[in-house]
Amino acid sequence: MTRNDVTVWAPASLSNLGPGFDCLGVAITDFGDRISARRQVGSAVTWNWHEDSSWSAPVPPEDNTAYVAARSMLQRLGSNVGIHLEIRKQGRAGSGLGSSAASSVAAAFAVAALHGREAETDAIREAALDGEEATSGARHGDNVLPSLYGGFILAQSDNLERTRRIECPVPLHLAVVLPAMDVHTREARGLLPREVPLGAAVRHASLLGLLVNAIRSGNITDMGMLVMSDEIVEPRRATLVEPYADIRLAAREAGALGVALSGSGPALFAICPTASSAQDVALAMTKACAARHVDSMARATSVDPQGARVEAEPGHGGHPTW
Ligand code: HSE
Repeated sequence: MTRNDVTVWAPASLSNLGPGFDCLGVAITDFGDRISARRQVGSAVTWNWHEDSSWSAPVPPEDNTAYVAARSMLQRLGSNVGIHLEIRKQGRAGSGLGSSAASSVAAAFAVAALHGREAETDAIREAALDGEEATSGARHGDNVLPSLYGGFILAQSDNLERTRRIECPVPLHLAVVLPAMDVHTREARGLLPREVPLGAAVRHASLLGLLVNAIRSGNITDMGMLVMSDEIVEPRRATLVEPYADIRLAAREAGALGVALSGSGPALFAICPTASSAQDVALAMTKACAARHVDSMARATSVDPQGARVEAEPGHGGHPTW
């Protein structure tokens, strides 16, 4: 079914999850991007920040990740229709919560949905990766794929035919804190070693395997321990997030089973034993930031199993409100 306008929600995501650098991520609830797309006369793609956006930085029009993804999607569909995008960001770029991926996925999905082709998820994935690459300088799928498909996703970043969903049999209680500072993924990637010693690579592979097993078996104690086990990437990036050590300590003292950076940060997430402990941990993490005179936003969240979806259509419930 082709449409004249559509509104799409794409969830934000936690990526890396400790030893899963560039290959493991999970979609989360309550954070994400909402993009409304409508056909317009001509063949231009235009966009603006919706007034409800929590973030709306001045970006050259053609550098916007949603714009890049929408253009790429049109090309992949062989279409030259004009489209206007209205972008409502609930997160912000440079957060570590897969905000640019959520924008890219929402834009590509919305363009596909206008053409009645939202089932073409391989094309949507590639268009969204074009948007992600324009922002982060790398074509990693650990944010784009969870945002598109929902749930935990494990993928080989240089061969996305090998993308697998990992089912977790228990509900996961998470807390996320976003300190008010920017970490640019490009810069954070620049800190990483080009080569790692064989022993470290072997240990890393074992830890990732064990983490995947913990997710599949719903062993949240192991999950918590294993998300804290990365010795290659996270220690180098921790230096970019000034309250990192305090947040980790506060979360653990409040009952978290494990705490780690999400993506390149500055956001951190914690795995918690219950929904109420996730609230306690979120509060403890934001207090740890305040003690360091860093503003922050913290929230309890959980896994979004669904991924990107058409959210509202005219005549079918109207447009959503925040
Ligand atoms: N896997 C990517 C990285 C995610 O850690 O650089 C970026 O948020």
